[in-house]
Amino acid sequence: MSITPPTLATAPAPTTNPLREGLRIERTPAPCAMVIFGASGDLTHRKLMPALYDLAVERLLPAGFSIVGFARQDMSTSVFRAHMRDAVTQYARRAPLDEAIWDSFAAGLTYVRGDFTDVHAYDALVAELERLDRERGTLGNRLYYLATPPEFYGPIAENLGRCGLQHGPAGSWQRLIVEKPFGHDLNSARTLNNTINSIFDEQAVYRIDHYLGKETVQNILAFRFANGIFEPLWSRQYVDHVQITVAESLGVEGRGGYYEHAGAIRDMVQNHMMQLLSLIAMEPPIELAADPVRDEKVKVLRAVRPIQPALTHRFTVRAQYDRGFVHGSEVVGYRDEERVAADSTTDTYVALKLFLDNWRWAGVPFYLRTGKRLPKRVTEVAIQFKRAPHLLFHADTAEPMEPNVLALGIQPNEGISLKFAVKVPGPTMQLRSVNMAFNYGSAFNITSPDAYERLLLDAMLGDSTLFTRRDEVEQAWRIVDQIVAGWETAPVTELPTYAAGTWGPQAADRFMQDDGRAWRQP
Ligand code: BG6
Repeated sequence: MSITPPTLATAPAPTTNPLREGLRIERTPAPCAMVIFGASGDLTHRKLMPALYDLAVERLLPAGFSIVGFARQDMSTSVFRAHMRDAVTQYARRAPLDEAIWDSFAAGLTYVRGDFTDVHAYDALVAELERLDRERGTLGNRLYYLATPPEFYGPIAENLGRCGLQHGPAGSWQRLIVEKPFGHDLNSARTLNNTINSIFDEQAVYRIDHYLGKETVQNILAFRFANGIFEPLWSRQYVDHVQITVAESLGVEGRGGYYEHAGAIRDMVQNHMMQLLSLIAMEPPIELAADPVRDEKVKVLRAVRPIQPALTHRFTVRAQYDRGFVHGSEVVGYRDEERVAADSTTDTYVALKLFLDNWRWAGVPFYLRTGKRLPKRVTEVAIQFKRAPHLLFHADTAEPMEPNVLALGIQPNEGISLKFAVKVPGPTMQLRSVNMAFNYGSAFNITSPDAYERLLLDAMLGDSTLFTRRDEVEQAWRIVDQIVAGWETAPVTELPTYAAGTWGPQAADRFMQDDGRAWRQP
């Protein structure tokens, strides 16, 4: 029997949105069903459902789009819909909730209760997916989203395989989206990759790093490769060093149990910071497509010079936040957070100096730092250029000349600024640094979509450019494992601390001073 997909408010709009034109042409995904494993969890509540609803508002979801929530909690479909409505009301970008769009979106939401490890629980899922194919025209196209604790990723993939859910009718597609953390180290990541790839082809695996879905992160590619003026300067010839900062003012927010085993190095460096590093340092890909882009990114990671364990202290700083004041409120130290050991030596701050052993970047240090409970939330990549070779103006300049810096603001300030020196008006040749700035908000007058909107849509469209490939994940773990191995050769009972609300430990400042440089204050 052939089914005509129901017409929903989520049907594609006939007109194209000019803001989406440019690098890619707007497309609407084929009808499909998405299964969210871990549908009662925080990620579904705060990110996935609001992003899907926002896509519905933008009319970017296909007709008949359906979501099956799968989780252990006992819950009816109507209770699930009510929870999801709360989630969307609270977190969706497009507020207030549009009742007509919500009703049509919610008609595609159902819930199946099941234990992730119990293969029999998947019978009900199979039946529900078949019903959706029949009644909502989802054509056997499936997106499986693993939003569960990571220990279930392997078992869920295996159970999908046992039920034959990795396949479908001819012409259909089945894709698996995997959340972070992807493994705990190189070995566990390889094991997980092997399990997943024994069921799903690599092309069907979409490993999420939500930083890649951020507009400003994607703009790194546009900025570098759509302009003729910056790329010639983008090398050891003109760049003194690069600073990548991912600062957060939040603490561990009740995730102490997870964070104790991760620390900043696994939570932020292995994924988000390695992605920023790859995009900043990569060679131009031959085309803007998944494999050419990821081939170039993985080459950067492969070029990261290994840090010998005995020298780890010269290339890394780690520290932990102590109590202090953030945005004027007193906050506890890391060791006093819930589910954190009183003698924990988990890093909440990491600074690294990395070198890339390749022609473009030989000898240029890349300084990376990330921390929780820093004074503010700010993510920025700053390219600091070499000074002019001969200073003509030195004698008349009261302030020391600042170097040229190109700063790519990732969040919350979305934009780009370029610092250069100009003459101060007046009778003498006095110089001062000024900033030339581009700001997304004022230039386009729109709010950027949430990273998950873009990534979910791309996964439905089968575009994995903004997802991490197996070899990228494994290369990033190679780098992190070496650093952790270095730390473990000299175990500590106390880490350096920094007061919450400050820019990290003094050791991090000395780390830069020793190289005759300083961290920026973004
Ligand atoms: C997550 C980390 O991957 O990224 C969190 O697990 C962190 O600890 C978060 O807070 C930061 O993301 P964003 O988008 O707020 O910078």
